[in-house]
Amino acid sequence: MTDSRSHVIELNAIEFSWKAGIPVLDIPELTVFRGEKVFVRGPSGSGKTTLLGLLGGVITAERGQVKVLENDISRFSPVQRDLFRADHIGFIFQMFNLIPYLSVIENVTLPLSFAKQRKSNLASMADSEQDEARRLLRHLELDESLLHRPVTELSIGQQQRVAAARALIGKPDLIIADEPTSALDTDTREAFINLLFAECEAAGNTLLFVSHDQSLESLFDRSIVLNEINRASQPPSPASPTSKAIEVD
Ligand SMILES: Nc1ncnc2c1ncn2[C@@H]1O[C@H](COP(=O)(O)OP(=O)(O)OP(=O)(O)O)[C@@H](O)[C@H]1O
Ligand SMILES: [Mg+2]
Repeated sequence: MTDSRSHVIELNAIEFSWKAGIPVLDIPELTVFRGEKVFVRGPSGSGKTTLLGLLGGVITAERGQVKVLENDISRFSPVQRDLFRADHIGFIFQMFNLIPYLSVIENVTLPLSFAKQRKSNLASMADSEQDEARRLLRHLELDESLLHRPVTELSIGQQQRVAAARALIGKPDLIIADEPTSALDTDTREAFINLLFAECEAAGNTLLFVSHDQSLESLFDRSIVLNEINRASQPPSPASPTSKAIEVD
């Protein structure tokens, strides 16, 4: 049966290795529709961060097709991929990637300086960039007194909230979040998820959320279990010669 909803992500027969001959991702197929909130889980090392990097065009597949918002980004030049990501994807990286010499508020508004699409989304909402950054940070319960501090003076949990606000500003079509709540306490985690969902629902945007925290899973529309769809991370079947060779009595 075909589905009439538009595809935000479509992977076909992709393969990726960090080292030649040792595949990390081998995914026959993956589709995510517009507006879906998807929880991605899988054991450590199963390739979750690698998959997100591929979807954001930070790395490129050796084989197969990576379509984001109906564009085959594997055919883009590196510069085109960077511009596409800035315009359409709000990325919350596992390691935050905040700019250390900029203040909190400057980090949050930074994507707008090179993402025309997100800048114009914001302009149509009639808020100033600074006001929108403040609104997002307030919603994430980051103290006002921190807004003009360099991000290096913030705790890890505070930095995570700055990274979240930076990903959400200007309402990108797709939010990709890699372990975004690992450094937050239970209350802030809830405020964070509520903000993320409210922002996505208001704009009909799509969310891909990687986490080890299974208590969050039921809040999402569905889950992707990476080691189930990724043939590179599946253990060999019991009948295979490799597993026989390591069998012990
Ligand atoms: N930059 C890199 N260079 C070389 N190998 C890498 C690199 N990043 C990841 N890998 C390898 O690729 C595999 C998948 O790593 P990845 O970071 O995608 O896993 P993950 O599912 O995100 O794990 P975690 O839950 O611990 O974050 C691992 O075997 C890892 O060693
Ligand atoms: Mg990871």
